[in-house]
Amino acid sequence: MIASGTALVTGASRGLGRAVALELAARGFEVVATMRDPAAGTDLPDLAAVRGGRLRVHPLDVDRPATMVLPDGLRVLVNNAGIECPNLPVEAQPADDWRRVFETNVFGLVELTRRAIPALRAAGDGVVCNVTSSSLLAPVPFYAVYRASKAAVAAVGESLRAELAPLGIRVLEVLPGPIDTDMLAGSARTPEACAFPEYRPAAEALHAGRMALADMITAPAEAARRIADAILDDAAPLRVACDPLGEAMLAGADAAGAESRMAAFIAGLAGRPSD
Ligand SMILES: NC(=O)c1ccc[n+]([C@@H]2O[C@H](COP(=O)([O-])OP(=O)(O)OC[C@H]3O[C@@H](n4cnc5c(N)ncnc54)[C@H](OP(=O)(O)O)[C@@H]3O)[C@@H](O)[C@H]2O)c1
Repeated sequence: MIASGTALVTGASRGLGRAVALELAARGFEVVATMRDPAAGTDLPDLAAVRGGRLRVHPLDVDRPATMVLPDGLRVLVNNAGIECPNLPVEAQPADDWRRVFETNVFGLVELTRRAIPALRAAGDGVVCNVTSSSLLAPVPFYAVYRASKAAVAAVGESLRAELAPLGIRVLEVLPGPIDTDMLAGSARTPEACAFPEYRPAAEALHAGRMALADMITAPAEAARRIADAILDDAAPLRVACDPLGEAMLAGADAAGAESRMAAFIAGLAGRPSD
């Protein structure tokens, strides 16, 4: 697609969403950078202007449909806003964690997308870009809530891809690996599951694996460049990576079956070779 018209990005106050908003503005879209607290984006219009881009900030909380005001000329929707919760064993995870994460990561995303589709249809083309996670490609323990929410978005995206293709609207799913944001920094903490003796070995192995990612972390600006490339590429597949580790995981997932991937990951956590 040609970069023109409006692109709306959710969760653009910081992290990946902020970088994507700036990148799409630099590519030529009029960007509506949305966030819960617009004060967090006061510097964004000037930062976009430095690269010749146009960007404005609007309030939007994906948990509050009343804040979902869609701009004229919408051609790109980037569903980036996301949260996680304490990394607990499923048996210890309060139901409220499931509800809170699904409210933001799934229900909010679906509601905004539902409202955006008529605008994209009116434009005659467009892109819905959903940010999920490369953690979907590995059976990461203690991430059931987060991964399940992203899996739900992946399934919605598959159906939408088939549903919207005849209307000229493309659906993308971006599966980031480790991107240098507050969310990633938060994941460096000792997993809450370490407090449960039965689960401590797996939780400690998970933590060691997370700390070993230090050399594989990608800057948000670089990930944003790859996301913008995919948005502009009419031939992009449904699932795309935005960083080297995510790309390797996606390639591995395509090459190996789900069962063998899962067996290898679980064997790795237990410190033994896979079959
Ligand atoms: N960083 C990674 O390594 C990584 C890996 C895989 C997937 N991801 C995914 O990438 C996306 C961006 O993550 P990030 O790393 O940039 O995370 P982050 O630094 O924690 O930023 C999250 C963003 O989402 C916003 N947000 C949270 N709840 C919201 C709501 N109800 N309405 C509107 N915005 C809301 C936050 O706004 P506030 O500032 O108001 O809190 C913030 O702008 C997420 O979907 C995440 O799951 C990230």
